[in-house]
Amino acid sequence: MKTVLKMENITKEFVEPRKNILALNKINFELNEGQCIGLLGPSGSGKTTLLQIAALLDNPTAGEITINNQMCSSINEEKRNLLRKKNIGFIYQNFFLLDSFSALENIIIPQLINGSSYSLAKKRSVSLLSSLGLLKRMHNRPKELSGGEKQRVAILRAISNMPKIVLADEPTGNLDKQNSENVIKIIKKLVKEFNISFVIATHNLSMVKNFDKIVKLSEGKIV
Ligand SMILES: Nc1ncnc2c1ncn2[C@@H]1O[C@H](COP(=O)(O)OP(=O)(O)OP(=O)(O)O)[C@@H](O)[C@H]1O
Ligand SMILES: [Mg+2]
Repeated sequence: MKTVLKMENITKEFVEPRKNILALNKINFELNEGQCIGLLGPSGSGKTTLLQIAALLDNPTAGEITINNQMCSSINEEKRNLLRKKNIGFIYQNFFLLDSFSALENIIIPQLINGSSYSLAKKRSVSLLSSLGLLKRMHNRPKELSGGEKQRVAILRAISNMPKIVLADEPTGNLDKQNSENVIKIIKKLVKEFNISFVIATHNLSMVKNFDKIVKLSEGKIV
């Protein structure tokens, strides 16, 4: 099976005036194509740090990340950005949608940034919105949408450029049980349909019970 993301001996130390914080301590981790991994661990165990580093949004203190067979430590900022844009989608707990744009525009914009034409981006976005039952709400702005609707838009935005990997940081943290279950269903559908691999950080054990693999973090280590 093809490995799409590999973390080798990843350490992350945050420099603090009193005592440095070892947020990740020699993490080794592999994500295969089409695999869905749940990332569990108590608050402060390093889940967000791991996802941010895997998404190339932050640099490790030591260790190597390989994305789609490309080692990341030796490449410059521009190449890293390109690698991220091409391969990775990110879903945040608080959605982070652009408030002054509609749901549709929130999904179109990343595709334009990635070089797609407007007409193609729009066509693809409408079809994605339709697949998650959001056609009726597509011209509304985030503040006019429910939490579950916003999270569905955020999921579609994360996959709008058809990345190989989607990293989700507590994507159901702000949702009720029904909406959380819907999000998981949606993610499973995307794994099947587009062969996208997911890593999902969560506090919710029941959410990840059917995942391919569960990785547990404790004080920056996989346990
Ligand atoms: N930018 C930062 N500067 C300094 N310390 C940080 C920074 N970000 C995180 N930390 C520390 O690193 C450790 C891991 O934090 P992280 O946010 O990865 O935990 P988490 O598992 O995502 O927790 P939660 O479940 O609460 O979201 C914590 O001790 C945290 O205080
Ligand atoms: Mg976190």
